Amino acid sequence: MRRFFDKALSIFLSFAFVCGMAGCSFRPAQETSDHDVYVIGFSQLGSESDWRIANTKSMNDTFANNPDYELVMDNARQQQENQFAAVRRYILEGVDFIIIAPTVEDGWQTILTEVHDAGIPVIIMDRSVAVDDEDLYLTNIGSDFLRQGNLAVEWLEDEIPEDAEIKILHLQGTIGATAQIQRTKALEDAVAKHPNWEITSQLYGDFTEAKAYEVVTDYLIENSDIDVLYSENDNMTFGAMRALDEAGISYGNGGQVKIITFDATKEALQYCHDGKINLCVECNPMFGPRVKELIENYRNGLPIPKHVYVDESAYTTQNITQEFVDSREY
Ligand code: AHR
Repeated sequence: MRRFFDKALSIFLSFAFVCGMAGCSFRPAQETSDHDVYVIGFSQLGSESDWRIANTKSMNDTFANNPDYELVMDNARQQQENQFAAVRRYILEGVDFIIIAPTVEDGWQTILTEVHDAGIPVIIMDRSVAVDDEDLYLTNIGSDFLRQGNLAVEWLEDEIPEDAEIKILHLQGTIGATAQIQRTKALEDAVAKHPNWEITSQLYGDFTEAKAYEVVTDYLIENSDIDVLYSENDNMTFGAMRALDEAGISYGNGGQVKIITFDATKEALQYCHDGKINLCVECNPMFGPRVKELIENYRNGLPIPKHVYVDESAYTTQNITQEFVDSREY
């Protein structure tokens, strides 16, 4: 018996010694081990707009405090080469999954081939990529940006008399981004159909308030004859509104310039409710939960559609309530 206790004690001490050296700890049975954590590398393109900030928050909120997942995010500050560097780092670190919100559509073939060769599944989120082989990514979740643009021009067609001559100032987002390409296409197609519609200028605002303020301020020094502002996101609209205010040009309901904006953030909806913006076309950034669902479907071997569009609408001063504005999450 004595020999049995001596042996048990010696086994216990050896185990405790090995654990001490190796840094082991006892875990409750239900606790997830590091091995089970599913690591997602997320290359977010930037923080240029309120939309983007809401989108990042939606992703973080979805995966935060979830012991099964770890979301590692990199902010590329609107530079595609920063996205390439982040994705290559994720490959080296051997993450389980990669999500990319691409700055622009072109230039992804090589890096996506590298990710594919490393056997890591990829979701393209928000905007799209132009690659030869769609099998390089699992799915593309985001907005139907062409539909958004078409909603805007259809509203304008209803709003103005058919033969009215109109001058449109067009504020463009990051050139080559899906949101810019498709919203621009909708407007240019409509202008081609309506000989009495004219785009007086296409100004580059890079989806930021500061850039839009700068270019619109400069533009208004020489040109004040504008009937419509077609602005490819809310933050650029806010910059343009400031420039219009300073130039003494009225806008919104009953004003000289009708304003069309994209995103429909809370601030823009409030302006719309107050009659300062005529049309807010929604671009929904809150798709963290849908991304998680897609990842889970993939992990469970369920089929994944190649394109997933989020639900969106459009709001005017006439159809928006204060209650709705107050309930807006972003
Ligand atoms: O790609 C979505 C667009 O990017 C949003 O309209 C804009 O606000 C953002 O910066």
